[in-house]
Amino acid sequence: MFSSKLSHAKKLLRVGHTLRGGRASSSTLVLGIETSCDDTGAAVLDETGRILGESLHSQKEVHLRSGGIIPIVAQKHHKQNIERVVQEALDRSGVDPSQLAAVATTVKPGLALSLGIGLEFSQRFVRRHDKPFIPIHHMEAHALTVRMLHPVNFPFLVLLVSGGHSLLAVARGVDDFLLLGHTLDEAPGDTLDKVARRLSLIKHPECSTLSGGQAIEHLAKTGDRKKFVFTTPMGQVHDCCFSFAGLRNQVSMTVMKKEAEEGIEQGTLLSCVNDIAAGVQYTVASHLAKRTHRAILFCKTRGLLPSPRPTLVLSGGVASNQYIRRTLSVIAEKTGLDLVCPPAQFCTDNGVMIAWNGVERLREGKGILPPDVDVFYEPRSPLGVDMTAEVRAAKISLRSVKIKVPD
Ligand code: KG4
Ligand code: ZN
Repeated sequence: MFSSKLSHAKKLLRVGHTLRGGRASSSTLVLGIETSCDDTGAAVLDETGRILGESLHSQKEVHLRSGGIIPIVAQKHHKQNIERVVQEALDRSGVDPSQLAAVATTVKPGLALSLGIGLEFSQRFVRRHDKPFIPIHHMEAHALTVRMLHPVNFPFLVLLVSGGHSLLAVARGVDDFLLLGHTLDEAPGDTLDKVARRLSLIKHPECSTLSGGQAIEHLAKTGDRKKFVFTTPMGQVHDCCFSFAGLRNQVSMTVMKKEAEEGIEQGTLLSCVNDIAAGVQYTVASHLAKRTHRAILFCKTRGLLPSPRPTLVLSGGVASNQYIRRTLSVIAEKTGLDLVCPPAQFCTDNGVMIAWNGVERLREGKGILPPDVDVFYEPRSPLGVDMTAEVRAAKISLRSVKIKVPD
């Protein structure tokens, strides 16, 4: 939808940029802005991925207290913080807006009210400072972040799992993705957050400041995953799509039963939360592992990944879970892929990943707009070319493949 008018951007790129503080005089500097969900993030990067300045305002605490993200509340916090966050990132970098090569901002997908704040701010900013604008797809940014930190070449397979999304895709280029699978109902982070709420983990002394996913991971360390057995949709459909709503219902039933057994009210901590957390984490991890395994086999049969040693990238908020990382590493090892995960602070939402996506697009001259072009946000926006029907048609069975996930 965004016409790529490069001439303006190229003209600005050719201009030498002199940085304060004696830094390199010809760096290509990008300001990245993220407001797609509940984090207000901004960062200034140079073309090598060096972070010159960064600022992040998280609304996690607010939404933890209110029991989930309320869009209008998220919008209010973005509104209150965006100006300060962007100014902080600029101040910390010692970069003046006039020195920027471009501004990159998340415009899709995400919460409409949240996306709107970042987009409106950015459009005013680029017009005031006469800078090119690069609209960013949030999931594209998650997928590419790894390349800021490691020399990962295209094509690679990527599993993105967060509170808002879960998808498996082949990344063939900066703006070239094949979508192999996505969630059919809710994202794994959303499920973990809802399960944590149903278990009232916020009342647990060790979990009161943790997100749902972090709380489940923490408690699972001392839980027995075999005490509660949960399931996710199995074998009938041979695809790479995910489904987690059923797991959440099973957990609700189990919790109700245990509350009756222990004679406690809903909202009181059960004695077996660690075991339930371990069972839930195991089920999520093995569902992700099976779908990823099938995606790897599909890529192999179609020659979609380079050989030898293709790369599997795991990112998104849920990818900071060490148990899920270990499970995916078993699959990667078994199938001959190298697993690469960005460190936890780059798996969750931030301005850095958006700025990096801007750097990658600027380098290739893709999707760079003059400041005066009107851009609209898109709350729903699938990533890349949808290949899910082809994956299903390939009917790749995992029945004969036995892979042991960690205890
Ligand atoms: O990528 P992210 O910051 O925001 C989006 O959803 O886009 O991901 C946040 C999600 C939340 O659902 C949170 O519960 C989950 O990531 N999460 C985790 C862990 N840390 C954060 N899930 C499992 N294990 C973790 N350690
Ligand atoms: Zn995200």
